[in-house]
Amino acid sequence: APNGLAQTPPMGWNSWNKFACDINEKTVRATADAMVSSGMRDAGYQYVVIDDCWHGKRDENGFITADAQKFPSGIKALADYVHSKGLKFGIYSDAGRLTCGGRPGSQGHEYQDALTYARWGVDYLKYDWCSTGDRNAQEGYAVMADALRQSGRDIVFSLCEWGTAKPWLWAKNTGNLWRTTGDIWDSFAKNDMAHDWAHPVLSIVDANEPLWPFAGPGHWNDPDMLEVGNGGMTPAEYRSHFSLWAMMAAPLMAGNDIANMDETTRSILLNKDVIAVDQDKLGVQGRRIVQDGDKEVWVKPLAGGGRAVLLFNRGDTPATIATDADHLGYPPKVRAKVRDLWAHQALPNWTGRLEATVEPHGVAMFRIDPS
Ligand code: DGJ
Repeated sequence: APNGLAQTPPMGWNSWNKFACDINEKTVRATADAMVSSGMRDAGYQYVVIDDCWHGKRDENGFITADAQKFPSGIKALADYVHSKGLKFGIYSDAGRLTCGGRPGSQGHEYQDALTYARWGVDYLKYDWCSTGDRNAQEGYAVMADALRQSGRDIVFSLCEWGTAKPWLWAKNTGNLWRTTGDIWDSFAKNDMAHDWAHPVLSIVDANEPLWPFAGPGHWNDPDMLEVGNGGMTPAEYRSHFSLWAMMAAPLMAGNDIANMDETTRSILLNKDVIAVDQDKLGVQGRRIVQDGDKEVWVKPLAGGGRAVLLFNRGDTPATIATDADHLGYPPKVRAKVRDLWAHQALPNWTGRLEATVEPHGVAMFRIDPS
């Protein structure tokens, strides 16, 4: 978007995947504290975003207020607290009359709401698409984009209409990121799908991957927030989920309980090598270059001529997956430094071939930097 924000995919935390409507200021403060103590902030997770269900009623002049039960100190005080921790603060609204959780939406109050957010110190707005009737998405999002611009504050704008109106075709000058699918579901394989509105990791990957040409600095495809640490997948599956999101230059919005995460979860979310792939300055979304049954090879070009390479095994048994310099677009005798991003070690004397036996539903991930 012309606001110049999100030159790399936004990183942070969002309340929805773990807490849904059971959110309050105590939880948000505890999360902000934990973002610092766990090392998440220093690893780049910047935005603390409250999703649905924070709204109270509009006041007699139409200004939005916070739910006084859940947020007795008000949103401004909470934003100040989050800022005092060296983090940024985000909030949620909806382009319709009501949010998906039945709270007041912003339709007809866009300029007033954007002004309120600016006064509160909001740095990020996620804008949902429930109760929009026959509203046109392009128009609905353009109004709020303009309102945010006129608010005078730098606010990252996150579109959330689930890909129905193909925002990748028109939202580049409207928002900084746009959801490409319905909601993520904390499961891996397609046959784990429990609801038609909930999408396991593999469904999301297959919908988001072909959209790689539409992403770039300031405007990203958003395959939804992370489920890492929420309990529905194995550690290998969560490593795959996180690696695939990094390969797709996806926003990395943690969706778990940061204040109570275990060491496995922490080691995934804090893998700095994988985060660096996501945040690479070139800003090119990676793509699948080989799909051979359950075996896949993904490549993401990096600044300085490097490549991130993902060997991905969708299958239920271990698989040996290989690729080589030629496939990756390098001359056969290329000299490069190669690092295994999950084993956290350099590969000595690279000969131009990458091969790994990959666990079921797992990945091997490498970074190649020509020397
Ligand atoms: C639908 C969105 O896709 C979710 O991410 C979440 O924001 C919910 N609405 C909140 O009601």
